[in-house]
Amino acid sequence: MKKRAKFLTNVTDVNKIYMRNVIKDGDIVVDATMGNGNDTKFLAELVGQNGFIYAFDVQPQALEETSRLLEKSGFTENVSLILDGHENILKHVDREVDFVIFNLGYLPRADHNVKTRPETTIKAVEGALSLLKQNGIMSIAMYTGHDGGKEERDMVYSYLEKLPQDEFSVMENIFVNQVNNPPQLLIVEKI
Ligand SMILES: C[S@@+](CC[C@H](N)C(=O)[O-])C[C@H]1O[C@@H](n2cnc3c(N)ncnc32)[C@H](O)[C@@H]1O
Repeated sequence: MKKRAKFLTNVTDVNKIYMRNVIKDGDIVVDATMGNGNDTKFLAELVGQNGFIYAFDVQPQALEETSRLLEKSGFTENVSLILDGHENILKHVDREVDFVIFNLGYLPRADHNVKTRPETTIKAVEGALSLLKQNGIMSIAMYTGHDGGKEERDMVYSYLEKLPQDEFSVMENIFVNQVNNPPQLLIVEKI
């Protein structure tokens, strides 16, 4: 009998299900937390040669890793790698966008003190929401196991749950039976 692959592996993979469905060839997208560039590369595959990706990180190492990964995969033309905090998104992105991804927290195998923080994350989310096109989507993966993670999750959550429902739809994905601080994925659509 053919063995089925595991489906609900982690929030990153679940997010890919959303991304494959909502991101189209030619879309303008933002990776608000570039890290090692895995999401940036995935976005590059989805938007194709006609799309564009803005990717942010505060660590030069993230830009180097991402640049290497994109070059190896042949995606160099339509990407802007920005060494700046996502809270400054409105300084760098001056057009409407189709999709924004946040993968909060710190970069594994790097300095864990360099992590996303509640105040700057909220400022970035607010800026990114203002850039979203009608029916544009934002996804936010949040981890609560590290120092400050719960505070950040709570702030993001309470910001998003107050968004007027006639302007935004906000949906939560969480492994309800997972112990030890399960990560959470929030999906926002601008109506
Ligand atoms: C969980 S990692 C992202 C993983 C990444 N998406 C990937 O595919 O490898 C979070 C990243 O956010 C970055 N970061 C922290 N504060 C930031 C800020 N204010 N603006 C943008 N990026 C930030 C960290 O440097 C780290 O690389």
